[in-house]
Amino acid sequence: MNRRRSPPARVEDAPPGAEDALKQARERLEDREARLNAILDTAVDGIITIDESGIIESVNAATQRIFGYQPDELLGQNVRLLMPEPDRSRHDGYLSRYLQTGEARIIGIGRETEALRKDGTRFPIDLAVSQFYSGGRRLFTGMVRDISDRRRAEEEARRRREELSHAARLSTIGELSSGIAHEINQPLTAIVSFSEACLRMLRSGDSDSDKLENVLEQIAAQGQRAGQITRQLRRLARKAEREHEQVDINRMVCDVLALVKNELETSNIALHLDFDESLPPVECNRIQLEQVVLNLVRNAMDALADVEPLARELSVRTGSGSDSGIVLEVEDSGGGLGDSGPERVFETFFTTKPDGLGMGLAISRTMIEDHGGRLWASQGAGGAVFHVAIPIHGRAAS
Ligand SMILES: Nc1ncnc2c1ncn2[C@@H]1O[C@H](COP(=O)(O)OP(=O)(O)OP(=O)(O)O)[C@@H](O)[C@H]1O
Ligand SMILES: [Mg+2]
Repeated sequence: MNRRRSPPARVEDAPPGAEDALKQARERLEDREARLNAILDTAVDGIITIDESGIIESVNAATQRIFGYQPDELLGQNVRLLMPEPDRSRHDGYLSRYLQTGEARIIGIGRETEALRKDGTRFPIDLAVSQFYSGGRRLFTGMVRDISDRRRAEEEARRRREELSHAARLSTIGELSSGIAHEINQPLTAIVSFSEACLRMLRSGDSDSDKLENVLEQIAAQGQRAGQITRQLRRLARKAEREHEQVDINRMVCDVLALVKNELETSNIALHLDFDESLPPVECNRIQLEQVVLNLVRNAMDALADVEPLARELSVRTGSGSDSGIVLEVEDSGGGLGDSGPERVFETFFTTKPDGLGMGLAISRTMIEDHGGRLWASQGAGGAVFHVAIPIHGRAAS
């Protein structure tokens, strides 16, 4: 354990006879300190003690390993050295607010946050802070656990889940379309063979009107059947849409962004939020709206992958629209819609990605239109802008 040196007690000031006692007490103290230091230095977590103004008083060996500093580079420095922005500029303020108000935001609570290594890289940590008094001074001890490995494992698990759901989506579409093809093929085959029979009758001159009427009735019945199948499919697709509820759009957007927070950070995408806090709740199907926002954000993230890391910007705005509806905009600083144009991207199966389905925007548009709203794209100053407009009182699904 490395700590800043405090001035030694002056033995010559002690009363006569007390010298031995003092010596013993000091030895005991040194022994206790040596034991404590051995424990602190074998700890895997970084342990840092600071004073009331944020100045580092002591650090253990793990701190050195985790952050990449030599102890003498840390002792006497302000602890904000170990923090990335925005905490770096705010930490002095956090401390003085706590000292004035006693209102703890982290002390005794702990949280996941980010730290900064000497080489400038950021990494995720679990931070626990406690306070204690020593020699009439208040000190704070922070325990820092590097959770990069845990985060990587979580990220990997999330990617696997996503790949799985993508594969599931592909196979569902595959199964669904072969099912639909099969169901509709039967009446179509019947219609074709009945029509051929009609033609044969007419060509051979054997056009008995009763017989013809009978075959035409069969054709009509098979046509009806095909129509019934498509109506059933539509009903099935609409079933989930009936569950409308009052949704706070700003909150919903935050919930969706929380799902991709880690990816935004690791991809270095700067997120700008501009929410109209006065928006009333919107009557809609929450799951579908979340799906739409997620599709738009994912597309923006894909578009930003080709942009230089420092120029990756994603903005999400909400506001009120015409006809007492609300609007939501997702804008990125990617390559834009280019030659595809703002309408082509909504076509089913239109994709420019090697593993894209080209379904995201087509499905999103259907969902928004089913809410009585509109989804469209335009070219922004940098990349693409996607606009969602929906009425507050969504259209009740039939
Ligand atoms: N923000 C954007 N910037 C530039 N191009 C975009 C953007 N969003 C969509 N596109 C273009 O529109 C195409 C269609 O998007 P859509 O979401 O429908 O399908 P996808 O992302 O390719 O695949 P998936 O069905 O897996 O979402 C994309 O492949 C891309 O070319
Ligand atoms: Mg997409």
